[in-house]
Amino acid sequence: MAVEDVEYTAKEVAAHNTATDAWMIIHGQVYDVTSYIGDHPGGADVLLDAAGKDASVEFDNAGHSDDASEIMATYRIGKLQGSNAKKATSTVRLSVGVKARKPDTTKSSLNIVMGFGVATAAILGTAGLYHMVNQRVSLTNLLNGLILRRNQRLGFLEGFLIASTAFCIAGTLLSRSLLSVIHLHPTFLNHPPHIKLPKRIKADILSQSGWLHPTTFQSLPLVKKDLVAPNTYHLGFELPTPKSVLGLPIGQHVAITANVDGRAVTRSYTPISNNADCGMLDLIVKCYPDGKLTGGYLATLSIGDEVQFRGPKGAMRYKHGYCKRIGMLAGGSGITPMYQLIRAICEDERDTTQVSLIYANRTEADILLRSELEAFSRKYPNNFKLYYILDSPTPDWQGGKGYVTKQILAEHFPAPDADSRAMICGPPGMVNAAKKALVELGFDKPGTMSKMSDQVFCF
Ligand SMILES: Cc1cc2nc3c(=O)[nH]c(=O)nc-3n(C[C@H](O)[C@H](O)[C@H](O)COP(=O)(O)OP(=O)(O)OC[C@H]3O[C@@H](n4cnc5c(N)ncnc54)[C@H](O)[C@@H]3O)c2cc1C
Ligand code: HEM
Repeated sequence: MAVEDVEYTAKEVAAHNTATDAWMIIHGQVYDVTSYIGDHPGGADVLLDAAGKDASVEFDNAGHSDDASEIMATYRIGKLQGSNAKKATSTVRLSVGVKARKPDTTKSSLNIVMGFGVATAAILGTAGLYHMVNQRVSLTNLLNGLILRRNQRLGFLEGFLIASTAFCIAGTLLSRSLLSVIHLHPTFLNHPPHIKLPKRIKADILSQSGWLHPTTFQSLPLVKKDLVAPNTYHLGFELPTPKSVLGLPIGQHVAITANVDGRAVTRSYTPISNNADCGMLDLIVKCYPDGKLTGGYLATLSIGDEVQFRGPKGAMRYKHGYCKRIGMLAGGSGITPMYQLIRAICEDERDTTQVSLIYANRTEADILLRSELEAFSRKYPNNFKLYYILDSPTPDWQGGKGYVTKQILAEHFPAPDADSRAMICGPPGMVNAAKKALVELGFDKPGTMSKMSDQVFCF
């Protein structure tokens, strides 16, 4: 019997739930992933947590690519009894290197307004026709109108043409003025971190879709590469037009893929720019000499090189009203998702969420986005409180020293209740220690795959 014809019950699968014997169900198919646990790019923990269970939802939420689908075939041992699914079909088919630029949302706005003008003209024309019929205009008059005889009063066609032209011009002018209002802050660099975006702009822009495509890798040229801290670069990529919107909801991230030493390597990055920064995608990337994508690719990029992106990805899609208080713990480059949320919260005049950030680094020179974070804490003391902690500070350092302890978390984080959340992003050692301490402080134990509803969310 072929492997795909062997059937297992959910109970049989549930019995294989350990690190040395891990089966799981994904879209009606049964997989034995025991030998893949250590190789899984999403981490061993998530597979261990899913062992013995139906992990279809979690699998989909991770936004797996077609590569994953191919690898899965190796581990398929049969199907779930009673399931009609022939094959796992939920993974996304990736096209790498395709420069399929989606239509700009800015262009769509223009189209909408133009469409409105044409539709209005059509309505007026129809109204004109109705009026003519009511006025018992004869067929001869209508034909006269159609051949545009100048020595007669305006006919229906002339009226229609004039109305269409007038509305197209008005639509164009209106759309231009609307767009100029929307694009007040063209880039991350000239957007001062102390200006609240007007409500209507905030609501429209931050959640709108844009250039990014969830399943297709598209390339952007590198136009800026600045060393901002030891081994850490600010990388700026240019979107297709100065008015293009990235299309990244707050809290989500992008994937970058590259061929490194003959193998495709894909990693996640959280932009520090958001949809309000038209025309640009900005990243802060810490490069590791032995890191596959950073050391082997990103650190060696030159201005003009094209980089492949896809997204948005990730379980966090922040909107104001998510909770009332957030305790954030970031380590090193783990500041990027926190910065994205802090910026969105501080710049939204309706958002009264109180954020308290503990930002841990080795030395003062490693602190990233320092001036931006300090500007937010100065300007919005009710929204945002900032506490630095360094492993190896100089003697004159005024902030926290050493590692992040349970006591430090208790001092700076909100008490665990229905209105508070904890967020963590950083190196695995720090994340694991903080998770343990937060549970001891009364927060709910986080799962291996974070969900927006979790009290402790790990990016
Ligand atoms: C949702 C998400 C968002 C992210 N956003 C960003 C971002 O905005 N900026 C950014 O720089 N990174 C970010 N990362 C981390 C990034 O995805 C890569 O893991 C990182 O760039 C290392 O990739 P690599 O291939 O170079 O290293 P790998 O080849 O995967 O690792 C090789 C070596 O690099 C070192 N290393 C790798 N990651 C870390 C780490 N986090 N801490 C300490 N040492 C490490 C270790 O020595 C490791 O042995 C994010 C990760 C996730 C999951
Ligand atoms: C046989 C089963 C699986 C295979 C072969 C597989 C394979 C992969 C591969 C190849 C990647 C790298 C990114 C990509 O190409 O998509 C990946 C990432 C990931 N996987 Fe899986 N996976 C499996 C099951 C699961 C399950 C069950 C979960 C969750 C419970 C999970 C969670 C993740 C996460 C969180 C990532 C990281 C995504 C990111 O970078 O944002 N995977 N997996």
